[in-house]
Amino acid sequence: MTRPKIFVTRRIAESALEKIAAETDMELWPEDLPPAYDRIAEKAARADGLLTLLTDRIDAALMDGAPGLKVVSNLAVGYDNIDVPAATARGIVVGNTPGVLTETTADMAFALLMAAARRVVEGQAYTLQGRWKTWGPMVLLGQDIHGATLGIIGLGRIGAEMARRARGFGMRVLYHGPRRKSEALEKELGAAYVPELKDLLAASDFVSVHVPLTPATERLMGRAEFACMKKTAVFVNTARGGIVDQQALYEALRSGQIFAAGLDVTVIEPIPADDPLLTLDNAIVTPHIGSASFKTREKMALMAADNLLAGLRGDPPPHCVNPEALTRRRG
Ligand code: GLV
Repeated sequence: MTRPKIFVTRRIAESALEKIAAETDMELWPEDLPPAYDRIAEKAARADGLLTLLTDRIDAALMDGAPGLKVVSNLAVGYDNIDVPAATARGIVVGNTPGVLTETTADMAFALLMAAARRVVEGQAYTLQGRWKTWGPMVLLGQDIHGATLGIIGLGRIGAEMARRARGFGMRVLYHGPRRKSEALEKELGAAYVPELKDLLAASDFVSVHVPLTPATERLMGRAEFACMKKTAVFVNTARGGIVDQQALYEALRSGQIFAAGLDVTVIEPIPADDPLLTLDNAIVTPHIGSASFKTREKMALMAADNLLAGLRGDPPPHCVNPEALTRRRG
């Protein structure tokens, strides 16, 4: 029996590659930079399955050129790089990796929150530049974290973990989202629902975004929203860059409309070297490393492998964003 053909778009944990290779005819993209769209399309044309990353655009045209494609397994919890309705219409199941990266990503969001509030990166630059001449009573003053109010946009898995961390720091927690969560969860997290985004922004010392990028959340944070925030407030984004109007954020940071930002995601990734955000002392920009711990990246890779192999067998992937695609399977 011929083994299914798989294309893996980047080197991932060895344990996951071994698992995939044991059951398939696997081809691995060997380079550190992602394959261009046309290369993925070329490989997909002969593949039964793809293991993709969030850098890989998988659209309807690519799927149309891939008549044997049954499964696209994305190594990420987010899947805005994949046209899911187009996949569903073509009977292609799409897998993602929720759950295993929740705490690790919340750790990163909290790290950015703290680093931006307490000017950790600026402090390092100050030391390296030889500017540390004495203990200064007015040097590098920042914002307190304990006792402050955290406003969470999107109290899903990662947002809830943010709330848990905030409680450990004695913070008050507010959240906003399309709907109120259960009273039991609110009680457990000590989180209060704010129905209007602008009210949450006005009341918060820290604002952290934890929603997926969808047409409803694209540019959710724009000029009007930043204008509602306190001048002392810190904005954190570990979700997707497209949720923010980046020009508006830049202006808010430069004009002192808000105090600082910690960003793990940007509209264009990697952020262009001449992006004005990179000229600001009060913006920390990290290269989309929210889930980047050794343990978590291995768990994600194994989960993506399991999703891929299940989809190839015709079973619903254990973590599938469009199980209804199975009923539309071709041939
Ligand atoms: C990372 O951004 C992910 O979606 O897993």
